[in-house]
Amino acid sequence: MSSLRADLEAAARIGADERGGVSRFAWTSELAQANAWLMERLAELGLATELDPAGNVLGRWESGEGKAVLLGSHLDTVPNGGRFDGALGVLAALDVVRRLQADGVEPHRPVWVVSFNDEEGARFQTGMLGSRAFCGECDLDDWGGRGVPEAMAEAGQDFVRLTEARGVDEVGAYLELHIEQGPVLERSGVDLGVVTAITGILGFRVRFLGEANHAGTTPMEHRRDALAGAARAVLALRDAARERDDMTANVGVISAEPGGFNVVPGAAELTIDVRSPSPERYAGLEPFVRETLTAIAAEEGLGLELAETHRKPPVALDPDLQDALEKAARDEGATTLRMPSGAGHDAMVLAHHVPAAMLFVPSRGGLSHTPDEFTPLGQCELGARTLARAVRALVESP
Ligand code: GLV
Ligand code: MN
Ligand code: MN
Repeated sequence: MSSLRADLEAAARIGADERGGVSRFAWTSELAQANAWLMERLAELGLATELDPAGNVLGRWESGEGKAVLLGSHLDTVPNGGRFDGALGVLAALDVVRRLQADGVEPHRPVWVVSFNDEEGARFQTGMLGSRAFCGECDLDDWGGRGVPEAMAEAGQDFVRLTEARGVDEVGAYLELHIEQGPVLERSGVDLGVVTAITGILGFRVRFLGEANHAGTTPMEHRRDALAGAARAVLALRDAARERDDMTANVGVISAEPGGFNVVPGAAELTIDVRSPSPERYAGLEPFVRETLTAIAAEEGLGLELAETHRKPPVALDPDLQDALEKAARDEGATTLRMPSGAGHDAMVLAHHVPAAMLFVPSRGGLSHTPDEFTPLGQCELGARTLARAVRALVESP
């Protein structure tokens, strides 16, 4: 069995949930187990391992001089997620080191492997907390109010030390292999995607406030039904995004209070995730969401609380590294497509600090963030070989 396949299978068993998927969230015992497993694999290859103050796992192959080439992705998942999102990038990074060592390569500069903590942000609607801390973008005021300090303390880490996770200053380039998470490569029959840019993401937590009352006696025209406001918000955002080709909108979490079948909902909470790859459209998303929800609340006679939870602007990836990945793919005999990413990635944080690039392998049926996420082993290995070839070129040239 290939090493990459064995690693993918081993990682998928850690945090396997009862619905056939994988659930590994930041600072839980499942992620801690995956991190410990990874650190053992890194140590086997002779790398110096560390769990940094933000919960990122680092493996350092200290060789040569200068700034490191950093390779990796994340091992945390969405609830009931798949086996490939994030994990493939981390395990491919491990595979690259293994391949270079087997080929007797002595890098002229350090090669580091990373598994960033909390990329998905599933637990606290944070997102990319690990890579942001690694890049010195700590938002302690914001994260402190969300349960992060308590979760970190339970996991034996100290919230106030998050700023010490800054490691980007020693990095010269970042490369991330990832599944596409969409249908483009499969539909076009192309082997690999070279990512040109990553979409901008904006998140909110919303609360509509109405009046709980009796479901049978309260006249329909006198109700202040908070869930009706939330339902209208879901559809208004969806319809706006459907009218444009440079915007997506999603409400993934919704709840009503007090939650009785015969009680008019007095409050309703929802999350909003809106995205755009266009800087102009992205700049307009926040006022658009605010105005849309304010109008709905007014029409429904509801109060409104709207809090921004995360803001990650669109970013272009490094043109020279894109060329390097494309050349490596060509030398592997693979076909490539330059394409934007509609998913968020740690690379979008790193790209604001160092040259960063991403390589995509196809996702069967375009499925991701579900247990059905799948990429055949041959395509995963082609991605890892291409990454290894590109890294070799970067570390063999002085
Ligand atoms: C991460 O997977 C995201 O795009 O939200
Ligand atoms: Mn994901
Ligand atoms: Mn991912």
